[in-house]
Amino acid sequence: MAKVKTTFFCQNCGAQFAKWQGQCTSCRQWNTIAEEVIQKPEKSDWKSNAPSSKRVSKPLRINEIDTAQEARLDMHDAEFNRVLGGGMVQGSLTLLGGEPGIGKSTLLLQIALSLPYKTLYVSGEESQKQIKMRAERINPSNNNCYILTETKTQNIFKQIEELEPDLVVVDSIQTLHSDYIESSAGSISQIKECTTELIKFAKETATPVLLIGHITKDGQIAGPKILEHMVDTVLQFEGDRNHVFRIIRAHKNRFGSTNELGIYEMQGSGLREVTNPSEILISEKDGELSGNAIAATLEGLRPLMIEVQALVSTAVYGTPQRSATGFNAKRLNMLLAVLEKRAGFRLGAKDVFLNITGGITVDDPAIDLAVVAAILSSNEDVALPNDYCFAAEVGLSGEIRPVQRVEQRILEAEKLGFSTIFVSKYNKISLKNTSIKVQRISKIEDLVHFLV
Ligand code: TYD
Ligand code: MG
Repeated sequence: MAKVKTTFFCQNCGAQFAKWQGQCTSCRQWNTIAEEVIQKPEKSDWKSNAPSSKRVSKPLRINEIDTAQEARLDMHDAEFNRVLGGGMVQGSLTLLGGEPGIGKSTLLLQIALSLPYKTLYVSGEESQKQIKMRAERINPSNNNCYILTETKTQNIFKQIEELEPDLVVVDSIQTLHSDYIESSAGSISQIKECTTELIKFAKETATPVLLIGHITKDGQIAGPKILEHMVDTVLQFEGDRNHVFRIIRAHKNRFGSTNELGIYEMQGSGLREVTNPSEILISEKDGELSGNAIAATLEGLRPLMIEVQALVSTAVYGTPQRSATGFNAKRLNMLLAVLEKRAGFRLGAKDVFLNITGGITVDDPAIDLAVVAAILSSNEDVALPNDYCFAAEVGLSGEIRPVQRVEQRILEAEKLGFSTIFVSKYNKISLKNTSIKVQRISKIEDLVHFLV
């Protein structure tokens, strides 16, 4: 009998070692190295009965290369298409990662069901009945969507050969298992092998493949980092599970920009595309309330109007409480210190709570000015006019700093019917004939002057 070949892999980063050791020299984690059996027969082809391709590729001049074959498959979902850069490229592999229960299976099943092509949804996680139940909630319209519950890649490829689908969805890569490798499903060598087989299949048949990937507790896609290197596109599905909004963004995209993002709303009947996120994120109010301000932010390349709420109240305990939801707490403390020092507000003995509505987290520094305005409004108990919005960063010396793409923000605010937008004096603006008033300010004192 042939000797069983084994090697050692770090289960955290996927680094390979010839012998066991206590600490991984690559990622410095302890006790993560495990032995895995690797047994490869001579031929590990996705098409086991086909002759292995003997085609040798030749170098070509760059302008001799035919780009016409880079055709994209329309996914019939505006948000998904946008994130991919205009549909799925034939023969490409896309990996979708996200927290458990965020809706990865729902999204891809929904897409498979809404396409007018022949699609194959392979699940190693749920039974056909479970998938059917989910599909009924989503309300299927594609009778050409086939469901296969299988985890062995060789069997999957056999079915694919018979069915010849236009799109393959695999839920999830961690459940797949290849006969050519002995180790258990989800181990580093299995993930590598199954992905290699899928890539080979995708490239040879020009069929796009969508893979679902689990993530670890610190938000990385589970398995080796090499998985992310191997695939063409890595998408991340994120959002707060207790809120309805879900954001999909590209972390890596060989065929498009990584700046785009798509927004969905989770409903009882699946995910719905959100085409006008700003209108939904701003809550309907009858009267004007103090402590609310609206920020004109950018998420990727998309302008997004977000409501910031602040509550400033006298501290009950000796040390005042500061808490922020959806906003960096350190940044909140910094802005409070700036307000205290530069505008003379006594916030040292006050509790300050900050909340970004809609359950989203904002990194865009342009939200600073709206945060400051909301705090001022709550502190003074004066409501800001409903049709004011803000887009600027606040510096340590109280200066109002310019932000990128300010014109895009102004146009979005105008489109949504805001009367005034506060921006930095140092932003260059060449817009003409806008109906919105652009208030340019340079210091935090200017803002105080306008608002209270
Ligand atoms: P799921 O796609 O199973 O998540 P993942 O594959 O990322 O683990 O989504 C699960 C959640 O979505 C579940 O908690 C229920 C919710 N959901 C809805 O709210 N509406 C629906 O129509 C469906 C199908 C699921
Ligand atoms: Mg799932």
